[in-house]
Amino acid sequence: MHQREITVAVTGASGALGRALLQRWHRRGARLIALTHSQAPLELQADDGSSIPLRQLCWQVGQEQALLSQLQEVDVLVLNHGINLQQQRSVEATAQSLEVNALSSWRLLEGFAAQVAARSAATGAARPRPEIWVNTSEAEIEPAFSPLYEISKRLLGQLLSLRSLDLSGQVRLRRLVLGPFRSALNPVGLMPVGFVADQVLLQASWGCNLIVVTPNPLIYVVMPLTTLGRWAYNSLLTRP
Ligand SMILES: NC(=O)c1ccc[n+]([C@@H]2O[C@H](COP(=O)([O-])OP(=O)(O)OC[C@H]3O[C@@H](n4cnc5c(N)ncnc54)[C@H](OP(=O)(O)O)[C@@H]3O)[C@@H](O)[C@H]2O)c1
Repeated sequence: MHQREITVAVTGASGALGRALLQRWHRRGARLIALTHSQAPLELQADDGSSIPLRQLCWQVGQEQALLSQLQEVDVLVLNHGINLQQQRSVEATAQSLEVNALSSWRLLEGFAAQVAARSAATGAARPRPEIWVNTSEAEIEPAFSPLYEISKRLLGQLLSLRSLDLSGQVRLRRLVLGPFRSALNPVGLMPVGFVADQVLLQASWGCNLIVVTPNPLIYVVMPLTTLGRWAYNSLLTRP
């Protein structure tokens, strides 16, 4: 999709992967929208040291509709925000993990897809199908030593599998299944975040809808089988 100037919006923009993805999209000539939940201004530097031009929008979990109305021009929406409340299991921590990691992304996914459908019905314009990238994590299918993180990421992954049966006609859905990389969320992650962001964009440019970046070779085998199994199960047992 990077031949013409496209608009890319990334949630969790001030986090390690959010920043790295925005920098790489900038190299590809995209217009950038940084979606952050804090008010702190986000400054990103290009390779030559200059400041990367971007529009920053603040949003809050639970107020996705207010954000969606500002994403009319977006071609690629990257749902990347997340938290990892390690060692916690209180009712508040459970609610926060589900809201931030799973339900807010699900609401943005549904809202953006509905907006795209309304947009194309109104204009009838032939333009490339907008995309939503959902960052679930390999915690979808293996332990992350953080039960609430695993539960919420698995829920997000399962919702994506179920709803993609209906939504993939309107938007192109890509699932990012990433192994441990260094960030505030995972300070001991094995992979450098720049490497992960490079791999994500590379696999997207190859046309992959399932993007896997991890040092664990099993995930490259098990994750495609898992998504295939879910597709068959959900198709058999549900109706549009
Ligand atoms: N690090 C890993 O090992 C790893 C592995 C697999 C998957 N992932 C996933 O990759 C994504 C990015 O994580 P990261 O490692 O780059 O972590 P990070 O540096 O901590 O970035 C996560 C970002 O999420 C946003 N966020 C945090 N709390 C939020 C809230 N309450 N509401 C809305 N947004 C909130 C914040 O960005 P803003 O302030 O800009 O909103 C934060 O900087 C996450 O979804 C994570 O689960 C990480």
